[in-house]
Amino acid sequence: MRMKLSAVFLLLCGLILAQPVSGQDLTGRWAAVNNIKLDSGEFQTWILQVTQTGSELKGKIVAMGFATDVKGTLTGNHFEISGWEDKKPFVVGDFANGELRGTQWGSAFVAKPITAADEIPKLEYIEPPALHKVPYNGLAKTPPMGWNSWNLFQNKVDDQTVRTMADAMISSGMRDAGYIYVNIDDTWEGVRDAQGNLPANHKFPDMKALADYVHSKGLKLGIYSSPGPRTCGSYQASYGHEAQDANMFAAWGIDYLKYDWCSAGNIYTNDVLHPIYQKMGDALQATGRPIVFSLCEYGMGGVEKWGSEVGGNLWRTTGDISDEWASMIGNVEKQVPTAPYAGPGHWNDPDMLEIGNGHMSDDEYRTHMSLWALVAAPLLAGNDIRTMSDTTKSILLNREVIAIDQDPLGKQASPVKNGDFETWVKPLADGSVAVGVVNLGSAAGPATITARNLKLPGAVKLARDLWAHKDVNFKGGAFTATVPSHGVLLLRVSSR
Ligand code: GLA
Repeated sequence: MRMKLSAVFLLLCGLILAQPVSGQDLTGRWAAVNNIKLDSGEFQTWILQVTQTGSELKGKIVAMGFATDVKGTLTGNHFEISGWEDKKPFVVGDFANGELRGTQWGSAFVAKPITAADEIPKLEYIEPPALHKVPYNGLAKTPPMGWNSWNLFQNKVDDQTVRTMADAMISSGMRDAGYIYVNIDDTWEGVRDAQGNLPANHKFPDMKALADYVHSKGLKLGIYSSPGPRTCGSYQASYGHEAQDANMFAAWGIDYLKYDWCSAGNIYTNDVLHPIYQKMGDALQATGRPIVFSLCEYGMGGVEKWGSEVGGNLWRTTGDISDEWASMIGNVEKQVPTAPYAGPGHWNDPDMLEIGNGHMSDDEYRTHMSLWALVAAPLLAGNDIRTMSDTTKSILLNREVIAIDQDPLGKQASPVKNGDFETWVKPLADGSVAVGVVNLGSAAGPATITARNLKLPGAVKLARDLWAHKDVNFKGGAFTATVPSHGVLLLRVSSR
């Protein structure tokens, strides 16, 4: 009898725990409106479809600009929802009076039970083309270098910002160090006209004149679109207008296109990523203008295996970077399996640089720069070049580190872990190697680089510390130095 009572007690406890603590249930479909007004006058909208089990939430968010499976929790009235493979929630808020109120990536939203008027209109399905190989465009023989507006400016980028940034690329020495692309990311797009042309919005009154200005400075201009109907920021994109948009980019004098999956995920499944990217690869080549093709689909569908087949010069391997240690190190580690696919003309891209944006320490930014160089990543600065500090300059403009990134052999280093230390070795075209030891731990400690592990053809003749800018001595076939927490020891070592 005692046993039976405790079993009943446990059952009751189980039932109580399975209920949402607040007694509320989010199960259903919700229509959300963000407090972000687009150039078209529309507000950003999205639909949350969710099932609640106990306090666990599972479902999907379909927005104007993207779609993702989501999961999360409801604790009391408070919900936190994350998407993609991110642990960090991007939708948070409270459930009260039959409404959800909160923020999506920091922007306020209100969501109500959906009505027919809130549904995102379904567009006609355009069949993906048959596969074929798009010939190599001859560009990006070394990883592209430049600046991109997204990490710092997001929707605040405009013509004046781009012009002053181009000026600063020269006065700061960035251009002469190899940073030549000035790339406008999302939020430049206006509203497609009756002829199907997509003009820029009021922030970019004359894109051709802007390209002429950027070119007159010895720089190149990049732009952004999506194979879906909308960009990730909900602006109009290239779905069904690929050739027309590519021709317009060429007519403006664009030299680089970042093509971001975004709302293509509302129309297509991931098994057609390859033909969908091929469509724009073909369209760019048909323009006859050399345009670097940058694929941005967060590493889905084994892009490293087919990215170069669609004429891609680089492809993202991960979700978005943010200006914090865990995100930076996580991105570069996630792309380790893609190493065999990097090489001249086609690069793995762990996302743009955050150096100088203020939320990592100088040691962490030096590690960021060193790792991007070791893995032959594109170097696209994401900070305000016009106002950068001397320390930021000393990191972005370290020519000895840039030379590692730009080495013509184009090999991507892979790491070997030993306790808190991670050692990355990159073979270089002249037979020397670059070796970086990163301290992942929370305390400074001694890192040793052993010549034997560098697989050089002979004994070490020359070793140089690329951050201290001085030669170091490999006594007895090894070199040891103290590396601060999250810092790096980066050497170039040669046996000739
Ligand atoms: C996605 C990309 C980012 C940026 C934004 C713009 O999140 O991964 O790099 O281009 O879209 O909306």
